[in-house]
Formats: sequence, C-alpha cells, structure tokens
Amino acid sequence: MSAPIRSLAARYYTDPAVFEIEQVGLLARTWQFACHASELSGPGDYFAFEMAGESLFCVMGRDGVIRTFYNVCQHRAHQLVSGQGTTRVIVCPYHAWTYELTGGLRAGPNIAQVEGFDKSSICLTEVRTEVFLGFVFVNLDPDAAPMDDWFPNARAELEEWVPQHGRLKPLEWVEIPERCNWKVSVENYSECYHCSLNHPTFATGVVKPETYDIQPQGYCLRHTTECQNLEQMTYDIDSGYAHSHEYSSWYLWPMFSFQVYPGNVLNTYHWRALGHDRVVVWRGWYSVDGADDETVRRLAVQDRATTVEEDIHLVESVQRGLNSRGYVPGPLVVDPRCGVNSEHSVMHLQRWMREAVDGRDG
Ligand code: FES
Ligand SMILES: [Fe+2]
Repeated sequence: MSAPIRSLAARYYTDPAVFEIEQVGLLARTWQFACHASELSGPGDYFAFEMAGESLFCVMGRDGVIRTFYNVCQHRAHQLVSGQGTTRVIVCPYHAWTYELTGGLRAGPNIAQVEGFDKSSICLTEVRTEVFLGFVFVNLDPDAAPMDDWFPNARAELEEWVPQHGRLKPLEWVEIPERCNWKVSVENYSECYHCSLNHPTFATGVVKPETYDIQPQGYCLRHTTECQNLEQMTYDIDSGYAHSHEYSSWYLWPMFSFQVYPGNVLNTYHWRALGHDRVVVWRGWYSVDGADDETVRRLAVQDRATTVEEDIHLVESVQRGLNSRGYVPGPLVVDPRCGVNSEHSVMHLQRWMREAVDGRDG
C-alpha cells in the first residue's frame, strides 16, 4: 500500500528565497496575462506593466500585430514608456533615440557621426506574445512552447463557450488584495473540497455539487459541472448560443482563469504575486462592445460580497497557519474517483509547483 501524498512543505509558501526562485524559474517561464487586446486598438497604442520583476510594454504595430518589449532603451538603459497611451514612434526620454513600433532603431541624435555605427543591428528586446481569446499573454522564455501546447483544446473550447469573445471589452476590474502566498490562493481556487462548508450558496445554487469535478488538460485545470435550479438565475440566460445552460472554467497554470457562467457570461481571475506573502487577485468582468451592463455589474458586486469574501478569510488563515511551528503538512484527500470532495487537482498543482522550484520531479 502506498502512503498518501502529503501537501507541500510550508517553506514553499513562507520562504522569501522560494519566491525569488519562482520569479526566475516560474513567472519568467510561463504564460502570464498582460492586458486585454481591446486596450490596444490602433497602431501605436501601448501599455506598460510589471511582471516577474521586469518592466515590459505591449504595443500595436502598423500591421495590427501586438508585440511586447522589455521597457529598456538599447543605448544606456533608460526606461522608454510608462502607463498607457498612443505614439507614432517610441522615443527614449534620455537622449531621444527613436524606435519603430516593431522595435528597430530608427534614428538618434548625432549617431551618423559614429564610425561603424550599424543602426540595423540595434533593436528592442522582444518578448513572446500571444493573443488568446482577446487576452494578451506574454512569456519571457524565448523557447516557451505555444499556449495551445500548454493548454490543449482550451482555446477551441472557449471559442465555442464564448462565441461573442471578439466583441468583449473589460467593464470592471475588481482588485482583491490577499495576505497570503499566491499558491495558497491558487490552490484554494482549484479545489471544491471546502465549498459546501464555506460557500453557503454552493449546495443550493446552480451548480450541482455531486457532479463538480476538476481535471488536468495539459497545464490547464478544467472545472466542469452539471447545473440545476437554472430557473433561479436572476438574468436571462437564453443567449441563443450553445452551452448557454452550462457553467465551466479553465484555469491556465499558473495565474489566470477563464470562467463562463450560464448565459455564456465570461469572467476572469488573474493573480499578481507581490511577494512571498502578498498576492492581488483581479476579477475581470466583460460586456459586448464595453456597453454598460446591469447584469454583469450586479454579478461582479454579488461575487465580491460572497465567494470572494468567503475565500479571503480562508486563504489568510491558511497563510498564518503555514507560519506556525506546529504545522506538519497533512495528507491530501485524493479520491481515486475524483469529484467534488477530492483534492486530486491540488495534487497536480503542487506537482507543477515543485517542478518549478526544484526542477522536474519525475
Ligand atoms: S538611454 Fe535611451 S537614448 Fe540614451
Ligand atoms: Fe472557495
């Protein structure tokens, strides 16, 4: 008989040195959410952001392609842009070297006087970028496999579940700071063993708990369930699309999740790790063409007041517990039949977490 699999050692969640390793070995080698493509709608639109300890920016070229660059001038390293805006070319504020939207050096004061100066050899450092259902993702690893390899079928499934995705724009971003390690928050999101006790509406809501399951699909954790009591829904779910009477989610390792509610209503989670014991969870809510949508706004408020609020208390208590000398990591409840009361999904997550920090663990 094999021994039960134990939860990760507390130091993975409490040791600043582990977080330092993750910045390089995990955050810089996985697909991370940058911005929504609708924030870059025309040539020259740019958006700067921080990720894995780096400053980066996305910019749309005249060819309509969104590219991402490290936010650093190839002359003497001044940062190039901040915030969000539109520009014809990228001009460095230090000595006015000018770059094309495709990253190549275009001009610089007095550079023609420098013997052997080869303008064509100087280019901003580009970062792998993919647009996935209208969401811009970047990966600092130049050799990273494409998202479709990491998350097989997820794109095709989501296109079917959210057929209006090309017209969606962010309506609201709800910011939720949590005093815990990002992995505590992600694990909590990825199991429903805690749901019946902690989410009072879970058993009586539209999700049919006994059918809820979470299975890996590559590095995606796919949540599926049957629904019940759909007549209780407070909005009209008859969108006319397929899957309008279903609920599902696609968590993309390590820090993003697409959720689709009945009526094909898309909402998202993304996590930004601020340190070993600080994370911000962002809930994203979208509407067609960015139109104000009473239903979506109501869902965002209700979600913040219920599930999100309930989960904050859980994850912050866990983080305090992980700091206790009295904690010995317990066995995960892995039911061979899987299902709602099994932590097999946490087992998969913790395997990926260990791989990222300790290298492949067979
Ligand atoms: S550092 Fe950018 S032009 Fe000098
Ligand atoms: Fe929860």
